[in-house]
Amino acid sequence: MPINFSLEPFARISDVFCETGTYHGNAVIKALEAGFKKIATVEISRINLDIAKKRIAEHPLSKEAHIDYVLGDAEKNIGRLVDFAKLNEVMYPIFWLDAHTHVFKDGTLTDGNPCPLVFEIAAINLAFNGKAVLLIDDMRIVGAKGAPPHGVVGRVQAARNALFDPNALISMIKPGWGKFVDLLTILKLAMEVPDVSFRLLEGIEPLDVLCVYPNELHESLFGQNDE
Ligand SMILES: C[S@@+](CC[C@H](N)C(=O)[O-])C[C@H]1O[C@@H](n2cnc3c(N)ncnc32)[C@H](O)[C@@H]1O
Repeated sequence: MPINFSLEPFARISDVFCETGTYHGNAVIKALEAGFKKIATVEISRINLDIAKKRIAEHPLSKEAHIDYVLGDAEKNIGRLVDFAKLNEVMYPIFWLDAHTHVFKDGTLTDGNPCPLVFEIAAINLAFNGKAVLLIDDMRIVGAKGAPPHGVVGRVQAARNALFDPNALISMIKPGWGKFVDLLTILKLAMEVPDVSFRLLEGIEPLDVLCVYPNELHESLFGQNDE
């Protein structure tokens, strides 16, 4: 959290916005304001989801959109978001993946799974084979141990180098979110589908969101930024 880039180019190429980790609904509200009409979001905390539903219902644009709320674990429910995207028959569904460990004040447990990213990306890859757009939040802490280190550029660079020199991985990339996920795993998985490009976008800090998108969407999504 949060989205600090424009969702409008994404809404121009797709009607469907799927999110893991609803929290208080900020991203859904941004998606509505960008023009998305079909939205699905999953949240593990009932309290957070209730707050989100109330806030979103008060937004005038919510009446013009279809919004599916799912209460539960993102890993267990990613299939529901995938089915939602397929049912709505869009070419390029947008997935905002943001269901990572959070400080729960209401006693919600995540069954010991602090980061469902690997499972989420694998399920989306399987369903869309590179024709979905992934927006993966929190790059600054994927691969971090304990307190989040900063400087995502250096760590992405290290991950890229490690693809060609695996030993670099040992010195440069630490296990992230305990032993569950590291940055290299995320990058490799995201590249397992054909013809996709990567771009880092603004999140809570610069370059904190990894966007993985079909090559053919480059002009529509980022053409103007490259001029
Ligand atoms: C950083 S907040 C999400 C912010 C929101 N996506 C936004 O852009 O405004 C993370 C949310 O993920 C939820 N969460 C954490 N682990 C989860 C899991 N395994 N499944 C579903 N939700 C989870 C937390 O309860 C929290 O509300």
